[in-house]
Amino acid sequence: MSERLRAGSATTRRRFLTTLASATAAAGLGNIAPPAFSRSSQRPIVTHGVQSGDVSTDSGMVWARADRPARMLIEAATTDSFKDICHASFADALPETDFTAKALIEDLPAGQQIFYRLRFQDLSAAQAISEPIIGQFRTAPTDRRSISFVWSGDTAGQGWGIDPARGGMRTYATMLRNCPDFFVHCGDGIYADCTVPTQQKLPNGEIWRNIVTEEKSRVATTLADYRGNYKYNLLDANLRDFNAAVPIFAQWDNHEVMEDWWPGEAFDRRGYGVKSALLLAARASRAFHEYMPLRYTPAEPGRVYRKISYGPLLDLFLLDMRSYRGPNEAHSETQYGPNTQLLGPAQLAWFKRELTRSTATWKFIASDTPLGTIIAHSPSSRMPVGRGIEIADLLSFIRRAGVRNTIWITADLHYTAAHYFDPNNAAFQDFDPFWEFVSGPIHAGTWTPCALDRSFGPRIVFQNAASHEQGDNLAPCFGLQFFGHVAIDGQTGTLTVTLKDVGDRALWTTSIEPQSGQNARGHTSPLPDKT
Ligand SMILES: [Fe+2]
Repeated sequence: MSERLRAGSATTRRRFLTTLASATAAAGLGNIAPPAFSRSSQRPIVTHGVQSGDVSTDSGMVWARADRPARMLIEAATTDSFKDICHASFADALPETDFTAKALIEDLPAGQQIFYRLRFQDLSAAQAISEPIIGQFRTAPTDRRSISFVWSGDTAGQGWGIDPARGGMRTYATMLRNCPDFFVHCGDGIYADCTVPTQQKLPNGEIWRNIVTEEKSRVATTLADYRGNYKYNLLDANLRDFNAAVPIFAQWDNHEVMEDWWPGEAFDRRGYGVKSALLLAARASRAFHEYMPLRYTPAEPGRVYRKISYGPLLDLFLLDMRSYRGPNEAHSETQYGPNTQLLGPAQLAWFKRELTRSTATWKFIASDTPLGTIIAHSPSSRMPVGRGIEIADLLSFIRRAGVRNTIWITADLHYTAAHYFDPNNAAFQDFDPFWEFVSGPIHAGTWTPCALDRSFGPRIVFQNAASHEQGDNLAPCFGLQFFGHVAIDGQTGTLTVTLKDVGDRALWTTSIEPQSGQNARGHTSPLPDKT
């Protein structure tokens, strides 16, 4: 599509967003209205808005939830008039999935704004059909056009829930104003192990007043509790408006299950009543896959790691450093094995294979865990240990295979930073230098800066965090909520990364030219080496 057509599409999109906002305001829904579009008890209700995700060049997932057993009727078109329906299908929402339904819209044109319309048909009374709800996403391009996206993580943490008087989860509204092609949520999409109390006292004497729900008033242990965490977030109108307009690529981190869990962990944490992390993870995984619009992997239905091919300029690799990791204590082991796993052998092999196959100019690696927080070597040795064995192996593989232009993005630290990993500063040096950009939280406590592990030589080029005077767990209303913005120029391939805050201020930015070179399969980047 030409840039002119693309601009037209953006105009349509803005008009849609304006219309959506006007309709919401006209209905008197304000910022915290119950997420429902029909009050009729006779007709099904769409309870929590719509979502889309995992878009490709010709498809995208869509999601919604009903208030009863209902059939989700799906239509898609390339204009918001819906005069040219290009896709029609259905998916059933039953109690077994908490009345959620999601489906893949296929055979779409590339690089195109897609409008989708969802209705729920009562399975017990076929004539009863809900009001329609409309969302949109853009398919990935097949040509070298300019693209942009945002990333962040950490939603509704540390008891900082939805305070209507403070505008709810405002970072979602700010990200929406950037009109990104998609959003990468790097994890901690819920805080299953954090309750949301009625109120919290702020250091300035003010009171933060949360909307509260029964499920968010206790730590999650049952499937209903985990589901309740996602439903809580979707009470926020900023999030629902964002979801209706921007597709999400969702990862998970630890708080989707509980703080710092690992799969084999047996424990007796106070208040849990469940002694197996694996059992909690199974329930958490079910809720995550029900409530997040990610694709289903038949080979491993609970899989989170995957690759998104986003046209010739971008491949995105979403990693899962939680589901396959070994025990938390094994930091001193020098041999690779179950105790030192982070990605695990199957994911690591997949990742290496897909990196070498990638012909995209930029390879973005979305990681739930920042590399600088992984304890990777012992001070007495320059050899990697523990979980560092896998990371060292991966980084040296990237170097040996000639994989160029890898960029790591993450959240998790609850502040924003730009880290440059330099072998010249590192204990372990067999890798090419690379950037890791950190953003978040979207809506959670802000931390003070953490000390980074020096194994791979991270240099803190920029960071913006809570000050030591402010302390850890600074409330979201103090402005230190963050997201990152990435723009890739279609003509030059130049990458621009901007770290932003909830006020949409650009705190720090850098532009990086792509390096040319051959990858392991002999493909040559079409771009000249400008570095
Ligand atoms: Fe977090």
